[in-house]
Amino acid sequence: MKALVLSGGKGTRLRPLTHTIAKQLVPVANRPILGYVMNHLQDAGIKETGVIVAPETMDEVKKYLGDGSHWNLEITYITQEQPLGLAHAVKTARMFLGDDSFVMYLGDNLLGSGISSAVKAFQEGETDCRIFLKKVSDPRAFGVAELDEQGNIIRLVEKPKIPPSDLALVGVYLFSRAIHDAIDTIKPSWRGELEITDAIQALIQAGGHVKGEILDSWWLDTGKKDDFLAANTTVLDQYIKRIIKGSTDTESTIEGRVEIEEGAKITKSTIRGPVVIGKGAVIDNSFIGPYSSIGDNTFIKDSVIEHVVILKNSRVEGVIRLEDSLIGRNARVTKGKRLRGALRLMIGDHSQVEI
Ligand code: G1P
Repeated sequence: MKALVLSGGKGTRLRPLTHTIAKQLVPVANRPILGYVMNHLQDAGIKETGVIVAPETMDEVKKYLGDGSHWNLEITYITQEQPLGLAHAVKTARMFLGDDSFVMYLGDNLLGSGISSAVKAFQEGETDCRIFLKKVSDPRAFGVAELDEQGNIIRLVEKPKIPPSDLALVGVYLFSRAIHDAIDTIKPSWRGELEITDAIQALIQAGGHVKGEILDSWWLDTGKKDDFLAANTTVLDQYIKRIIKGSTDTESTIEGRVEIEEGAKITKSTIRGPVVIGKGAVIDNSFIGPYSSIGDNTFIKDSVIEHVVILKNSRVEGVIRLEDSLIGRNARVTKGKRLRGALRLMIGDHSQVEI
């Protein structure tokens, strides 16, 4: 069993963050999403892993994943010159995949359950494809499945205007070699992409054995903007333990599950978990409330923040109070000195500010 991890695409929905970073590398609880994906492959006992990359972001993806040995994986990089769809990505990886069965994992998806039991069930069974479904509030943004009364899949449609159900296709798929023949029969969709959803539909029509399973655990599609803070909250809840490697002074209080990485320095502050504070970050005379992730080398002074994600090398100073916010890398949010309440902003393209 091989793995195919999709780490290409343009990440338009997470702009402006993804102007300067691949969407699969945007950190959730200070760790790139791809890191969680790699852990799931490792846990499932997979070794040979193809990683689909795009020319624009391949260097940073390669820099992070390296040869995969950190996760005990053997990585082969495959370049997809243009984002022409998930089925096109499988086509591009045809040589690497050979006739082996494989798990395809979209690099911006996170599954609470991991994939070990699904991989095991697929290896023991005789299906051509196994997919996961999850109830969502707006199915129009996903591939959607229609099931019969026994729970068998009748039909799959990509981003339907009138969804036949509220069951979305999760971005993890298990395939036998039969998917390649199905891909050869499909045409690009209205958005100009070869859709994997259409290929699975073709597989069903050709008499292939396709099994759907409703996912019990949580699922996060972090490539979509509103889910990003939710992903951070869920991951902080699930994974963060109390680990304090950085320094804290006697005037600071660290409450609950707080991870403070090496070289971070907390002075005259209260940190209330779950919170993660990255390497070399400095927190001075501030309150960091639950569900916050503070990136490496970020500086926070005289501020009160809660439920906020701040990526690395940013600065927040004199801000009372900041909530439900997402701040990118090398950003600054500071209190003006002489401005009597006026706002002074320099905001990048596609930004959102609520005042
Ligand atoms: C893709 C698939 C869609 C699936 C989704 C899950 O959508 O085409 O069927 O539900 O991933 O993340 P895209 O991210 O290309 O819009």
